[in-house]
Amino acid sequence: MSSLLSDYPRYAWHLLVGVRAKMESGLAAQRVRDLAPWLDLTQPRAILDVGNGSLRPQYALLRGAGHRVVGIDFVNRPGTGWRRSAYNVMRQLYALQLRLPGATMNPQGLVGGNVGVLPFANSSFDLAISNAAFEHFLDVPAVLADLQRVLRPGGVIWAGVHLFTSPSGGHNVSFTQYPLRSLPPGAEPWDHLRAQRRPFSVPLNRWRKGQYLAAFAEHFEVLAHYCGLREGEQWLSPALEAELSAYTRDELSCATLVIIARKRG
Ligand SMILES: C[S@@+](CC[C@H](N)C(=O)[O-])C[C@H]1O[C@@H](n2cnc3c(N)ncnc32)[C@H](O)[C@@H]1O
Repeated sequence: MSSLLSDYPRYAWHLLVGVRAKMESGLAAQRVRDLAPWLDLTQPRAILDVGNGSLRPQYALLRGAGHRVVGIDFVNRPGTGWRRSAYNVMRQLYALQLRLPGATMNPQGLVGGNVGVLPFANSSFDLAISNAAFEHFLDVPAVLADLQRVLRPGGVIWAGVHLFTSPSGGHNVSFTQYPLRSLPPGAEPWDHLRAQRRPFSVPLNRWRKGQYLAAFAEHFEVLAHYCGLREGEQWLSPALEAELSAYTRDELSCATLVIIARKRG
């Protein structure tokens, strides 16, 4: 309960003051640059947002850029209640902050369902994107196999994965800064890889960088990968690095792993 009282206001504050919206716009621009050698996003494309989330920021940004966008996520299933109403309000605020028409938030392209069982025809998308969602997928190989099916030959996937091994990878809601620059009082860096005093409340597959790269390579041609966001290097003392020697320095400090891959065709 104390975490609800202290953590959610901080989360809401980041939404209200536009910190998150700025980050989302930056991410969309970065993705256009990343994809430029392989897919021209100045042309309208058929795009699948894999795990679009309740606030649907990338879904809305891509629609605002003129693409035909479909999103799939459990949260797209119909529902009622105060949480749904709060998200409706937050989405309209988000649209304003993102300088998008409110209509880009409309749900007509959204499908409620499991990303491991995609209800779409073969070869129906030019691009699949996913941000901060792969780390929650409990059957990553099934998701990648089905994405390979629904992408057209030569179609591309861009995934930003929040790595479990990073300081914020345990998804404690107190760690709402992104990248994480300071720890809440009493929190130890990489607690989720060490004493685990702060249990996480969302499903996480705990995959490591090498596992993602190998799984993507099974189904796609991996075109590029890089660390999109670093955090926590200031806490990596020699003693801590020794304690966490099962992980590389790169894994411990990379909050977002970006993978760009193409369906062989
Ligand atoms: C942290 S949110 C990210 C949302 C969004 N991409 C963003 O950047 O704001 C992860 C989303 O993945 C969804 N998700 C996790 N596993 C899923 C699955 N197997 N099928 C469909 N959605 C799933 C969750 O419902 C959640 O909305």
